[in-house]
Amino acid sequence: MHVTRRGFITVAAIGSLVPMMPACATRPRRSRRPAAEPLRLACIGTANRAWDNIQELRHERIVALCDVDAGYLARASSEFPDARTFRDFRELLAMERELDLDGVVVSTPDHTHALATALALQAGLPVYCEKPLTRTVRELGVLRSLWERHPVATQMGTQIHAGDNYRRVVEAIRAGAIGRVTAVDCWQQKSWGDGRLTPGAVPPAGLDWELWQGPIERRAYIDGVHPANWRRYWSYGSGTLGDMGCHIMDLPFWALGLDRLDGRSIEIQADGPPPDAIGTPAWLEASWAIAPGRAGDDPLVLRWFDGGRMSPFVQEIGAKDRVDYHGRFSVCFQGTTGALFANYGEMLLWPGARAAAWQPPAPTIAPSIGHHREWLQAIRDGQPTAPLCGLPYATRLTELVLLGTVAYRAGRPIRCVPGSMRIDGDPAADRLLGEPALPGWTLPGA
Ligand SMILES: NC(=O)c1ccc[n+]([C@@H]2O[C@H](COP(=O)([O-])OP(=O)(O)OC[C@H]3O[C@@H](n4cnc5c(N)ncnc54)[C@H](O)[C@@H]3O)[C@@H](O)[C@H]2O)c1
Repeated sequence: MHVTRRGFITVAAIGSLVPMMPACATRPRRSRRPAAEPLRLACIGTANRAWDNIQELRHERIVALCDVDAGYLARASSEFPDARTFRDFRELLAMERELDLDGVVVSTPDHTHALATALALQAGLPVYCEKPLTRTVRELGVLRSLWERHPVATQMGTQIHAGDNYRRVVEAIRAGAIGRVTAVDCWQQKSWGDGRLTPGAVPPAGLDWELWQGPIERRAYIDGVHPANWRRYWSYGSGTLGDMGCHIMDLPFWALGLDRLDGRSIEIQADGPPPDAIGTPAWLEASWAIAPGRAGDDPLVLRWFDGGRMSPFVQEIGAKDRVDYHGRFSVCFQGTTGALFANYGEMLLWPGARAAAWQPPAPTIAPSIGHHREWLQAIRDGQPTAPLCGLPYATRLTELVLLGTVAYRAGRPIRCVPGSMRIDGDPAADRLLGEPALPGWTLPGA
């Protein structure tokens, strides 16, 4: 007999895990899968990054696969012949009890992350969702409040967070390796820009263009948009900053505790080619000036450079030292006593004399069991807050990143209190935080 394993527990039982939850709420919660049994997972999106995620999870049980591209779906299904197949993730999630799911993996283009994640959260299902968590700031607010009502194990697909190097950098910065941090420059050479419409283009055979578009206003097919090039369009992605910001800015965000700004405001400005209503820019520079925590201090400034733009500070010291810091690294912390360069796998203190005298602190951040495994373990243990890039952290990190694109599109500096999900005094910029979804695609609780 097929038995679904859903149970209910009260806030009193798990309230201590999630202090921000309203005291009167109850939420669905699954009883645990016995340790000897694999978890039953559904994967939404099956090719490219989605396929990488499936490889990381295939030691559990993939019981449902969903893709709007029939060719990709058939290929994945041939490896998991027992998995049920779907084209529409709404149908999959509507059948979650029958499928007896333990978790859902969302690896679709950014514009469909929010609804797939929201429907899973609403059903009390753990979610692993690719970065950026959503395409818009407003969607983040909805996911955050859904999670507060239904706290389950979640993880955003920023797998570098689980590596050793980010841990060592965070410890070094916190131990004062460069004194007090005053600014952080982040950069990325890629350029996901210049998206243009292509009237007359026809969707590739096997692609359900209607379903692919999901919540977004309907348009004729755009040549080459699927796969991957959707990043070049505001309707589906958010350019290079949206694509890479959650990986790279994660490092200063973590090291400087920027998920806990406690009402401090941020002023954001951005520069690039004249904003286009359709396509993302070929290059972008953005800065976030974060109000100081102590009166009298200067704001902490984060800066972003993509599409070939470079940090003037990094260029200047690179030219002086004859070292291509820009080519080798992607983050430069600047502090009162020096600088620290980092990338996904290494770090370097500057100037060199300082590095020679530096004794790294003893590691304090425990090694990760693996980014995907953190999520799986949290599902098994019933620990919604255990994954380090779960919704509470991921909503704040994604918000910071996306606000850079909002300032760019607004064409003027914006000011925002993180978590407020609004821009006061600038209705046009506020509208850029997100537009309504098409009927049938609205987020539960929006
Ligand atoms: N963590 C990482 O290092 C990393 C790397 C690459 C991409 N990503 C993220 O992964 C996501 C996918 O990126 P990609 O480059 O693989 O995109 P892609 O366009 O190459 O592939 C998307 C997959 O999802 C499918 N799909 C599209 N819409 C769907 C829908 N509504 N329902 C079900 N399936 C759908 C596509 O057919 C395809 O299989 C993005 O959010 C991206 O930012 C993360």
